[in-house]
Amino acid sequence: GRGVAMVTAVAARLAAHRRLLEETLAPFRLTREQLAAVQAQMREAMARGLRGEASSLRMLPTYVRATPDGSERGDFLALDLGGTNFRVLLVRVATGGVQISSQIYSIPECVAQGSGQQLFDHIVDCIVDFQQKQGLSGQSLPLGFTFSFPCRQLGLDQVRDGRLGEAILQGFPPNTLFVEWAGGPERASRAASCLPLVPSQGILLTWTKGFNASDCEGQDVVCLLREAIRRRQATELNVVAIVNDTVGTMMSCGYEDPRCEVGLIVGTGTNACYMEELRNVASVAGDSGHMCINMEWGAFGDDGSLGMLSTNFDASVDQASINPGKQRFEKMISGMYLGEIVRHVLLHLTSLGVLFRGQPTQRLQTRDIFKTKFLSEIESDSLALRQVRAILEALGLPLTSDDALMVLEVCQAVSQRAAQLCGAGVAAVVEKIRENRGLEELTVSVGVDGTLYKMHPHFSSLVAATVQELAPRCAVTFLQSEDGSGKGAALVTAVACRLAQMTHV
Ligand code: GLC
Repeated sequence: GRGVAMVTAVAARLAAHRRLLEETLAPFRLTREQLAAVQAQMREAMARGLRGEASSLRMLPTYVRATPDGSERGDFLALDLGGTNFRVLLVRVATGGVQISSQIYSIPECVAQGSGQQLFDHIVDCIVDFQQKQGLSGQSLPLGFTFSFPCRQLGLDQVRDGRLGEAILQGFPPNTLFVEWAGGPERASRAASCLPLVPSQGILLTWTKGFNASDCEGQDVVCLLREAIRRRQATELNVVAIVNDTVGTMMSCGYEDPRCEVGLIVGTGTNACYMEELRNVASVAGDSGHMCINMEWGAFGDDGSLGMLSTNFDASVDQASINPGKQRFEKMISGMYLGEIVRHVLLHLTSLGVLFRGQPTQRLQTRDIFKTKFLSEIESDSLALRQVRAILEALGLPLTSDDALMVLEVCQAVSQRAAQLCGAGVAAVVEKIRENRGLEELTVSVGVDGTLYKMHPHFSSLVAATVQELAPRCAVTFLQSEDGSGKGAALVTAVACRLAQMTHV
């Protein structure tokens, strides 16, 4: 009778919803072939970037050729700018290990997107505040700056391979410090070849993530910081080194594991660095030894090469961002964007009548309501659907249990694609290292940092599984770095100071 007809109608509606959900999520489900193609494209873009040809991967030389050898000692200040938070750290490198105290300072959006002078003044104000609170005022500690944006570091054309000497030093600004590579499995041979490391200059190429302060692009960030230090008369601050967060992370993990030759960040943004053969780096003279390359892989695909994989939702997220057309790979992977992708998918499903009874609420139309944190929470295995519902209700999205299940599936599809794309990138990197060395099998470690990678319940295992699938001849260990970017900046500074002392006596 009527009851049966109603049940059938409901079942038919649910089946239709399910079909629409599947259709919507299908483009997020990448096949093995698609992932292998991403890996291959990444490899090509890497090679072109290293040769100095047009490529969406900048493959920036970092002049880091040394990892800590354990003999570094001293107290250092470190800054960490470019993630969720701005932090100032005091890093004590002592015989017993590394000790860190740090404080988080906020960078209001109006400062991040205001004038460069305002931004750097604010940074110095935070350092001064930190010094006061830590009882460090007036002490001159060397300062390492983790600046997580693409920077062109000093070109080495002027420098010839060989031992450090006055002739080589002349080409560089007075504060330049030199470090030689003395870590990794080939410690001895690398230490023998001695090229300068110049991490004390960084020309900002372009802002990424949520930053857009004026008058900084094309400028040396270390100079901008020093100018602010002068304006604030905090002259005891002595900026020694600048590093990308990927490099800091690799360095800090390298302190414990000499096989750590890759740094990976999956947080607000995403990026990787690794140790490349110097002979493959066209823009740097010298053909023996290695150099850490900051890939800036967030920009992978900015030449349109990811077009096949990009969905309408990706296009919407890109269009609404402060840098449309830029950082296309990053926008499919990192914490700043995943929530937005999910939100756009939910809006679409609502417009199809599949979700939220077809009613797009004001809430759902609000940008950035879905934080990475929510994705991690919603996908956590220990959660019952009822709790998923509670999270969404707390976000102001009233829904039914069917809705909750579908939202969960959307989150899973989006974060799974992110982890797999990231894995395809790592596979490209480790395969490159393996081939560089002419090895049948490579054992390598990857130092990782970033809230998405660390907090999401499945992200890290999906990355590892993808790497295993796409780079079966590499045995890859992932090491989560603790405070990688802060500690790394201090360690680069420490290494720089140690070697500066050596070369000055
Ligand atoms: C962005 C930056 C890059 C950084 C990454 C992770 O991609 O351009 O330099 O390493 O975010 O923070």
